[in-house]
Amino acid sequence: MKQLKNVTNMNFSLHNPVKKILSEMILDALVTIELENPPTQDEINKLLSPPPKNDMGDMAFPCFMFAKKLKKNPAEFASILAENIDTKSIVSKCKNFGPYVNFYLNATELASMILPDILNESYFEKKLVKDAPKTIIEFSQPNTHKELHVGHMRNLCLGDALVKLYQYSGVPTLSTTFPGDVGTHVAKCLWYLTHHNKEEIPTTNKGAWLGRLYTKGNNLLEDEKGTEKEEENRAELTKILKELHQGSGKYFDLWKETREWSIALMETVYDWANVSFDKWYWESDVDADSVALVKKYQDEGLFKLDQGAVGIDLTEEKLGFCLLLKSDGTGLYATKDIELARRKFEDHKVEQSIYVVDNRQALHFKQVFKVLEKMGFKNAKNCYHLQYDMVELPSGAMSSRKGNIVALQDLIDQMVEKIKKEYLEKYVGDWSEQEIDSTANIIAAGAIKYGMTKIDSNKKIVFDMDEWLKLDGDSGPYIQYVHARINSMVSKSDFDINKADFSKLTHDNELEVLNNLLGFNDTVETCVSQNKTHLLCNYLYQLAKSYNSFYAECPVLKADDEGLKHARLALSNSVATTLRVGLGLIGVTAPERM
Ligand code: ARG
Repeated sequence: MKQLKNVTNMNFSLHNPVKKILSEMILDALVTIELENPPTQDEINKLLSPPPKNDMGDMAFPCFMFAKKLKKNPAEFASILAENIDTKSIVSKCKNFGPYVNFYLNATELASMILPDILNESYFEKKLVKDAPKTIIEFSQPNTHKELHVGHMRNLCLGDALVKLYQYSGVPTLSTTFPGDVGTHVAKCLWYLTHHNKEEIPTTNKGAWLGRLYTKGNNLLEDEKGTEKEEENRAELTKILKELHQGSGKYFDLWKETREWSIALMETVYDWANVSFDKWYWESDVDADSVALVKKYQDEGLFKLDQGAVGIDLTEEKLGFCLLLKSDGTGLYATKDIELARRKFEDHKVEQSIYVVDNRQALHFKQVFKVLEKMGFKNAKNCYHLQYDMVELPSGAMSSRKGNIVALQDLIDQMVEKIKKEYLEKYVGDWSEQEIDSTANIIAAGAIKYGMTKIDSNKKIVFDMDEWLKLDGDSGPYIQYVHARINSMVSKSDFDINKADFSKLTHDNELEVLNNLLGFNDTVETCVSQNKTHLLCNYLYQLAKSYNSFYAECPVLKADDEGLKHARLALSNSVATTLRVGLGLIGVTAPERM
């Protein structure tokens, strides 16, 4: 029941209907027992959470911090508090467990409180965040001229899920991307293309082909290091970079043409993944302005000339020296980031800015955020680097430089084939070819997106296609499958919520499912306050499992009584709806049938 630190400093509303009533009751009791300076209802609300074991009730309130004021030990205090709580009908019992006051909920009341709202979906339309700051989330910033591989999906899936979680919570959120379309990787690719490539330019999938040339170029340059070619190669790369910088010449024209191939590849992937960005920024586009911006602040005295280069000393902050202009007057990666941040703050008036970028760039972002603060941007303190660790293959790390990657398009094709063969073959002839095709793609996306978001971003992911596609484990397809099964049961029934008799819901498994449903918005709140997506995936897995246990214990269509049958159908349908909405927040569609 450990309280997690709120990373993003947002304030949340009293959206949980049960916690809202409990916190009112607790506050009244604290006043009755004459506690000095009682906490606010908001504070009480934040302290409430489910106890670790089911037999300890459904919600618990810790008393440690209040006991001292009445000179009591926490357990004594908790028992006095419990005695003084005037319980409302949602509570069937309230008693202390050591230093906690625990509440047992009444399943009937709980069901009538949440199931109709879940079914009409007003349950999912609450503003969870109060006074939400305007936010921009930058994610998926692949480099052009390199191939997209399965590793890139982690960033894409995390970022897209975060945008959806923020928007769901009522935070006005813009999504943005910042592809790296200039730099040495581009020069290496163009060098290989013009000097060594013997292959015909393909007519389709040019982006992936171009990415492979980058790998070849990089390898050849490595091989020729230390040979008589080295000097010549370096001179040629410098020449390419110079032309790109000045914006004219044959390499510049070639850059413009080939860049489009990479962009087309990105767009294919974004279309497939159903991800879109409100705003596209380009490294090539911020470059010139970023140099001008640094010069302006140099004139004002913030940035200093140091051995011909310009930068800012951050040693006092233990962040070293941040270099912003090289002695030849060109900018660096950090330089571009400063101009990019300025545009986000000034053009879009954002108050909070999130960067989904892998953990190797941690120092870079610390420097950039510190420099922004010194430049006087008041929202620099609301910049967050959401770091994530690498994606590996069961055989080890991937690197597009070395070329041992799983190319994204190949992977998608492979997954779709496998799903069609193993899961959907039985529907051939029954379903249209188009439905089979789209369902296979939805399941493949479900597997990838769930797999990429279900692991804490601080941990490595090992990508294992077979594991991620399993229908009976912690996978996207499993959750999709539970959803589809409930869906088909409900659609075959004569379900009518007006015939539901919630007073018949008395089974422990029913209460457990209800409690899980009650926790949905709290889970989203924690995801948003922590910038974590895996908590939502864990939640969905838990909900699906608890539903399956319920289903094994409690007959639905064959329930003894009409009122009970419809109540169980309402519960089932609510689980399906919650799974569908929850999957939607990680960008996953729940097919009607599968
Ligand atoms: N394109 C960069 C890379 O592949 C990531 C860009 C991250 N975003 C940023 N604002 N620096 O390493």
